[in-house]
Amino acid sequence: MKSIRPVQISGVGCYVPERVLTNHDLSKIVDTSDEWILQRTGISERRIVDKGKATSDMAEQVVRRLCTSLRMDPNEIELLIVATVTPDMFFPSTACLLQHKLGIRHTWGFDLSAACCGFVYSLSVGAAFVAAGLHSKVVVVGSDTMSSIIDYEDRATCVIFGDGAGAVLLEPAKRNPENCLIDFHHEVDGSGGVHLNMPAGGSLLPSSCETVKNKLHYVKQEGQAVFKFATRKMEEASRIILQKNQLTPQDIRLMLPHQANARIIRGTAERLGLRDDQFVINLHKYGNTTAATIPLAMQDALDEGRLKQGDLVLLASVGAGFTVGTALLRWAL
Ligand SMILES: CC(C)(COP(=O)(O)OP(=O)(O)OC[C@H]1O[C@@H](n2cnc3c(N)ncnc32)[C@H](O)[C@@H]1OP(=O)(O)O)[C@@H](O)C(=O)NCCC(=O)NCCS
Repeated sequence: MKSIRPVQISGVGCYVPERVLTNHDLSKIVDTSDEWILQRTGISERRIVDKGKATSDMAEQVVRRLCTSLRMDPNEIELLIVATVTPDMFFPSTACLLQHKLGIRHTWGFDLSAACCGFVYSLSVGAAFVAAGLHSKVVVVGSDTMSSIIDYEDRATCVIFGDGAGAVLLEPAKRNPENCLIDFHHEVDGSGGVHLNMPAGGSLLPSSCETVKNKLHYVKQEGQAVFKFATRKMEEASRIILQKNQLTPQDIRLMLPHQANARIIRGTAERLGLRDDQFVINLHKYGNTTAATIPLAMQDALDEGRLKQGDLVLLASVGAGFTVGTALLRWAL
């Protein structure tokens, strides 16, 4: 085993499907309104994949875009980690399907299931391989086709979620070893599983006519319980990782929070005492894309010139499980 080495994010790639589903469109399907959705969630529209397209297709697009932007041959990728709760199928893993679609032979990979914390957890796992000197080019993908597991007759869930994908390349820090991934703080509270889940299709309730009839292959959520946990934990976990590194919220240049609900993000920011220019909200155009929200927010921050070399960045998410994930880094690009 080689010595631990600093790890940087060397590039970001994103993909969202072209098809837009607006709040107005949803108000024609279920008893809701643009006003309610916007006020309660901050979402205006979300993207939905075309029929026949799946998580690996978005992941392929995103990795190709990432490689093009870096002028990198996909064959250079040594490890692919795909964070998703909507794999194309149970097995083979989406990482295997993606490797095949990309036509890259000398890589290995696997899926990681941590719902909305999937990207942050995968980032820490990928970084560990680079830090240990085991790999030098690891691609972490967050890709979710939430529309495949949403009941478009359930107004409490169908207004929230959308489809999308994002990816980053992890490499050993190049120019400045201080501009690297600094730390992670992750937690799991399995008692929260009852509040947000997809009951059927697994080994407990295998697919049957009965499970389909009872709509058990869709996301089930107790919104209030998730909302309260998320607001509390986003703040708590952020404070823990900052304190561990002798930092305060005021030291953060930019917080890239998981995009589930604008009220959760604003509530967290307020509790942490962050100014409006210290956090990113972009869920008005994508909704909650589960494992893709953080790289999508990262890309928007880059496009808007809000991320500069050396900036201290905090990633924070809460998801089904419950999972809680944070990461702290100094931007390297
Ligand atoms: C889902 C969520 C937006 C609901 O907002 P809320 O303010 O908690 O609303 P409630 O669930 O208390 O419902 C309030 C009322 O609005 C209604 N309602 C729910 N969805 C609605 C919709 N889309 N349109 C109109 N009314 C709706 C409810 O039926 C309820 O009506 P009632 O008072 O007559 O019973 C919110 O709880 C939330 O964002 N939770 C967290 C979700 C999340 O982050 N999930 C992913 C985790 S990563």
